[in-house]
Amino acid sequence: NPSLVPNNGVPSVIRKKLMGYVGFANLPNQVHRKSVRKGFQFTAMVVGESGLGKSTLINTLFNTTLYPPKEPLPPAAERPKTVAIESIGADIEENGVRLHLTVVDTPGFGDFVNNDDSWKPIVENIESRFDSYLEQENRVNRMKVVDNRVHACLYFIQPTGHSLKEIDIEFMRRLHTKVNLIPVIAKADTMTDEEIAEFKERILSDIAHHNIHIFQAPTYDNEDEETIAEAEEIASKIPFAVVGSDKVVVAPDGREVRGRAYPWGVVEVDNEEHCDFVKLRQMLVRTYMEELREYTNDVLYENWRTEKLVSMGVAQDSTVFKEINPAARMQEERVLHEAKLAKMEAEMKMVFQQKVQEKEAKLKQSEEELYARHKEMKDALEKQRADLEEKKKKIESGRPITPEKNTTGRRKGFLRT
Ligand code: GTP
Repeated sequence: NPSLVPNNGVPSVIRKKLMGYVGFANLPNQVHRKSVRKGFQFTAMVVGESGLGKSTLINTLFNTTLYPPKEPLPPAAERPKTVAIESIGADIEENGVRLHLTVVDTPGFGDFVNNDDSWKPIVENIESRFDSYLEQENRVNRMKVVDNRVHACLYFIQPTGHSLKEIDIEFMRRLHTKVNLIPVIAKADTMTDEEIAEFKERILSDIAHHNIHIFQAPTYDNEDEETIAEAEEIASKIPFAVVGSDKVVVAPDGREVRGRAYPWGVVEVDNEEHCDFVKLRQMLVRTYMEELREYTNDVLYENWRTEKLVSMGVAQDSTVFKEINPAARMQEERVLHEAKLAKMEAEMKMVFQQKVQEKEAKLKQSEEELYARHKEMKDALEKQRADLEEKKKKIESGRPITPEKNTTGRRKGFLRT
């Protein structure tokens, strides 16, 4: 089989023609059915100064009144002094596909006299969503993981026509590694086409100058020309100059369109010649929603997770696994405990053997001593017996017994016969 012949260790693959319908061509449909059944979760964040048309644009994008008409802002003195984070959730359905959409709003951003730290609560919010996802991933039961991570952040730039403001740059610099940034020029109908073109150029050069990464529609080598052209077309419109309106107005030619009516004419939201709304919708909803979710998971979240674990002092993935996996940790603790028990047992055995050896040596020593004493006594008795035997013989033979000398040299006495 030529497909199994190794080619530098890699089996070469040959194309085979099927002789009939097998059925795996249906895989995309299976994936589609499963995804439709499960539904989708998507979280978009909107950031920008008050009154730039954030709520209107979200309503326009999803063609629903997600944001009810708002009360006018209270006087500056009565407004909260920090950026708030508010989220609205809605289950929307289109052709049987369910989408749980969450929009995170950041009222107060850029509205204070000092906006230096306006980005802080937003970064914290994005990170706490990552935290919550990481915590869910580490649970024993991971069946119901809710993905609340922010998949895209629409950053509204004031249509000043100048260049980016300090607060815009600071926000994007702080956020671009944590969220898919999509910059939009708000209320583009307040600028002429030339002004928009120049403004876009300045914004892009500021973004490039500060090395800010803006989400780009990805293109792959094996993609068809049409898809690549579409991605390039979308990319060429960044930052999107948008117009929002949830009102239907009558165009000069009598058509009913979503747009804004002015004494000089009608600006149509869905007309690509009037603004970039259509391209933004393609980027955010129609073509690249899944890419936004994927990039959030595979790149932004993954980088954040690695950084977080490294900062916690976890060096290797295997260690990470044990740190975050209770089953692995328990297994490791059990192995350590067993090793400790085995060590204790070995030590006890050694002490026991040592004691036994000592006892044996002592016993052997006393046995030897006993034996030596016994031998000594036996020898003494033997000697005594031999002496007595000698004496007896002498007595029997009638010879006088030689008296023993005492220490003074005098004779102790005589044995009379
Ligand atoms: P906050 O909730 O206060 O932050 O405001 P917002 O950014 O959500 O703005 P909102 O959508 O409430 O719009 C503010 C005003 O701007 C409303 O009167 C809208 O009708 C108007 N507006 C919204 N979008 C556009 C637009 O694209 N062009 C113009 N000219 N006006 C717009």
